[in-house]
Amino acid sequence: MQVAHTAAALRAALAGKTGTAFVPTMGNLHAGHVSLVELAKQHGQPVVASIFVNPLQFGAGEDFERYPRTLDADCDRLAAAGCDLVFAPDVAELYPVAQTFTVQPPDALANDLCGAFRPGHFAGVATVVLKLFNLVQPRVAVFGKKDFQQLFVIRALVEQFNLPIEIVAGDTLREPDGLAMSSRNAYLGTSERIQGAQLQRELAAVVTAVEAGERDFDALAASAARHLKMAGWRVDYVALRDAATLQAPTPASNRLVVLGAAWLGNTRLIDNLDFSLPAASP
Ligand code: PAF
Repeated sequence: MQVAHTAAALRAALAGKTGTAFVPTMGNLHAGHVSLVELAKQHGQPVVASIFVNPLQFGAGEDFERYPRTLDADCDRLAAAGCDLVFAPDVAELYPVAQTFTVQPPDALANDLCGAFRPGHFAGVATVVLKLFNLVQPRVAVFGKKDFQQLFVIRALVEQFNLPIEIVAGDTLREPDGLAMSSRNAYLGTSERIQGAQLQRELAAVVTAVEAGERDFDALAASAARHLKMAGWRVDYVALRDAATLQAPTPASNRLVVLGAAWLGNTRLIDNLDFSLPAASP
């Protein structure tokens, strides 16, 4: 497996390659990322992963400085997973001049859900992903469904800028107790780690209630948020949306997603579950 730290080295390694499958990451890789690499292998060749903690998508006071940087271990994992090339630039390589042009997702998307609590986050994501796409020029790019809103932003970016890239979504991998795998789980203390699985349980309870016929979506989301708060979480949001539009469900919605973001101590966890809504009986 090759490792390129510069755009020039990346370009040289990829010269003449047309079927690249790309997995963008911020490193500190876990089994969830490995599953994305395995998915990428089914869709193209060579498989390229990037490792870059993108300052543009972190707000003031967020965890940019403490985000774990584990390049050697990440490269070992990627090599074992069958990745062909790692692109691991430093900040000066990707942002040699101040990034004054940015990709601004529409306000309704950028300021919704996670965006309401992380101003500028999705503009930072869209901007770095467009740069990475331009550098890697993949045919296919793989993103995890755990960042459901991010996936939605990337699909809109590709569609609206006519990028010739197929976006493939990878399922969320979970710990045995249901906690979604995340690099940020490493921040959790022992009792927080045990409590962390509650987020998924509350979202699953919402799914169960909807599947049982409950249709007061706001009340279901509010009740999940209340349970989390009672257990000591600081809740950013719990929301039920149409999985195809990310808007509030309508009578025409047939796939829904329940999304949540909440804090345990200093750690912000996100999760979501998407599911089919049984057709209403005539
Ligand atoms: O999901 C991530 O790890 C990041 O947001 C991404 C897509 C690599 C952009 O920095």
